[in-house]
Amino acid sequence: MKRYQCVLITGASSGIGTEIARRLAPHAEAIVLVGRRTERLAALATELSTHYGSEVVPLTCDLSQEGNAEKLWEMVIQKMGKAPDLLVNNAGMGLYGETSDTPLHKEKSMVTLNVASLMILSKLALKVMSARRQGVIMNVASIGSFHPGPYMSVYYATKAFVLSYTEAIAEEAHHYGVRVIALCPGSTQTDFHATAGAQRKSNFCKFSQSTQAFVAETAVLSILNGYPDIVIPGWKNKVLIFIERFIPRFVVAFLSGKVLKVE
Ligand SMILES: NC(=O)c1ccc[n+]([C@@H]2O[C@H](COP(=O)([O-])OP(=O)(O)OC[C@H]3O[C@@H](n4cnc5c(N)ncnc54)[C@H](OP(=O)(O)O)[C@@H]3O)[C@@H](O)[C@H]2O)c1
Repeated sequence: MKRYQCVLITGASSGIGTEIARRLAPHAEAIVLVGRRTERLAALATELSTHYGSEVVPLTCDLSQEGNAEKLWEMVIQKMGKAPDLLVNNAGMGLYGETSDTPLHKEKSMVTLNVASLMILSKLALKVMSARRQGVIMNVASIGSFHPGPYMSVYYATKAFVLSYTEAIAEEAHHYGVRVIALCPGSTQTDFHATAGAQRKSNFCKFSQSTQAFVAETAVLSILNGYPDIVIPGWKNKVLIFIERFIPRFVVAFLSGKVLKVE
């Protein structure tokens, strides 16, 4: 008997999302894969249904557009005939640059995608899961959730929201037997940095960089094992987050700016 009846993964067309889908497929009766790149989703759906015999449904949806998160939720219930019992809110984007120069329209899309859509899908899932008294939500935050990010100011702020919101609803949800997890990866080898407009990575990012497979493996182990609820893949990232608790925030912001400003 597979553990999850219906898994919904946003941002499944590449990177961490694709690898999470591959690792969850053996444990799911049905999976819904969401992203904008239809062909990639369709190829992954064929791969997963062939290997694991799960029902895999690709759904194209732009979650940076207001109103689409609600539409997606309705579409999932309509297509699958049930609401998800595992939601992985993974879709996200970043943007590098001086805040005075970066295009506002991209930052507005980022806030809708990284914050509003994640919040709406979590809330809709929580409503159903708390009534059923079971279910799991994983929200993809970042180690950037723990500190400010000069030259990626809006992105880091969106991830601070994700961690704070996730910890808050986790506390509410555990009274109903629902688990809410924050996945906080450090720098990971995916398309993320190129899409965000990074010219090249800093030496520090290269030093602590993980593979997407390692991050996904750590995430899925947490889902299946039932702990921990704040998942920081990699010992270097864990040490970094521990140490920065003892450093004044303005110093952390200064150091973070040094790492992120790649010249
Ligand atoms: N890579 C890192 O260093 C790192 C570190 C910490 C946290 N994270 C977080 O990890 C998550 C996954 O990122 P990744 O590293 O795997 O990067 P990625 O390979 O660029 O994946 C991003 C995923 O989000 C989807 N997405 C982007 N814009 C979307 C939109 N408007 N509507 C729907 N889906 C959208 C993309 O699909 P489409 O393009 O097909 O829409 C893609 O599947 C993100 O939340 C990111 O913030 C990444």
